[in-house]
Amino acid sequence: MSDLQIISVALGNRSYDIEVGAENLEHIGSFLTTFQPISTAVILTDENVIQHGYAHRVAESIAETGIDVHLLSIAAGEQSKTIETATTLWETLLEEGIDRKSVLISVGGGVVGDLGGFIAATYARGIRFFQVPTTLLAQVDSSVGGKVGIDLPKAKNMVGAFLQPLGVLIDTKTLQTLPENQYRSGLGEVVKYGVSLDAKLFQFLEANIEKINIRHVEILKQIIADCCRIKAQIVAEDEFETAGRRVLLNYGHTFAHAFEIQSHFTLLHGLAVSIGSICAARLAVRAGLVNEIFLKRQIRLHQALGLPTEMPDGVDRKQTIELMRHDKKTEFGKLRFILPTDIGSCRLVDDVDLRLLECEL
Ligand SMILES: NC(=O)c1ccc[n+]([C@@H]2O[C@H](COP(=O)([O-])OP(=O)(O)OC[C@H]3O[C@@H](n4cnc5c(N)ncnc54)[C@H](O)[C@@H]3O)[C@@H](O)[C@H]2O)c1
Ligand SMILES: [Zn+2]
Repeated sequence: MSDLQIISVALGNRSYDIEVGAENLEHIGSFLTTFQPISTAVILTDENVIQHGYAHRVAESIAETGIDVHLLSIAAGEQSKTIETATTLWETLLEEGIDRKSVLISVGGGVVGDLGGFIAATYARGIRFFQVPTTLLAQVDSSVGGKVGIDLPKAKNMVGAFLQPLGVLIDTKTLQTLPENQYRSGLGEVVKYGVSLDAKLFQFLEANIEKINIRHVEILKQIIADCCRIKAQIVAEDEFETAGRRVLLNYGHTFAHAFEIQSHFTLLHGLAVSIGSICAARLAVRAGLVNEIFLKRQIRLHQALGLPTEMPDGVDRKQTIELMRHDKKTEFGKLRFILPTDIGSCRLVDDVDLRLLECEL
């Protein structure tokens, strides 16, 4: 096992560590033992992840410490983030005698992470939770920050809670088996962090294109640790999204949500964020916040990493604006955007001139 990077998320008595390594999956057992007593470890995974052996490796490592382990697997994909799956899981936990000294461990992507966290937040009024994210998107984004939840038929992530995990263990080696489009989707979020929040990360990405494209485990370890550090810092400042800091994580997202809805969610989130970030950068150029050189540099990085930069087919301009007006993050019907002011910095602009936007789209 190579060196580990440990990122601390500073949230008072809810503080926890994120361990990032390459080939450190088997470290889960000793990580968990620091939280004894644990009566049972319930592993929640999905049908794809289980095929690659990750959930079993996690289970074996925990079993070696003497903790009783249960393994539950659900159908892969967003369609599992529902109240129906949640009900089945609550009933299964009850049948299997899971008590409040148990810990639920999500091993998989953001779906398993969000759903598992929601179950942990609600079953028996709350049991402990741990995350082992195995998609790039989950490793840099969804496993950090404590937002857990499920979808309603008409609104994603509409029912949920804030639940910080006991810890997060990230093994970059698991990314080797990730389908190409899922990997690129995660990169969309990675670039977002660089462009909008961290100039050093942006430069590091520019300098390591080839290694990123071949999924070099050590380079990924560095990048993922940086992304977690950036998100952890913002979450520590504004855990419940009330102080106006956490919203800065949403660069490109107002556009992205409108594109995702119009594609009926066939466009992966991080790819939508990639296009949305370019739209936001173009808007920022029109608003005089950044210059064309900034925009070109951002587009060059996206293209080098195989990320889309143009609006997807089937996107309607008017509908995009309408959808953005109804975005969950909209306040009082005003269109608000996170716009870049330089490489690595951005701000919330909530009085965007609609005419600039219409030119943009
Ligand atoms: N809580 C948050 O703060 C937050 C933030 C961003 C996104 N999300 C949520 O995350 C979800 C998306 O997460 P996601 O992109 O990880 O999707 P996902 O969980 O559906 O995973 C994508 C696909 O990859 C497969 N997979 C996972 N790990 C693999 C591996 N190592 N090798 C091969 N296949 C693997 C999965 O089975 C699935 O088919 C959405 O529901 C979104 O709402 C939550
Ligand atoms: Zn996102």
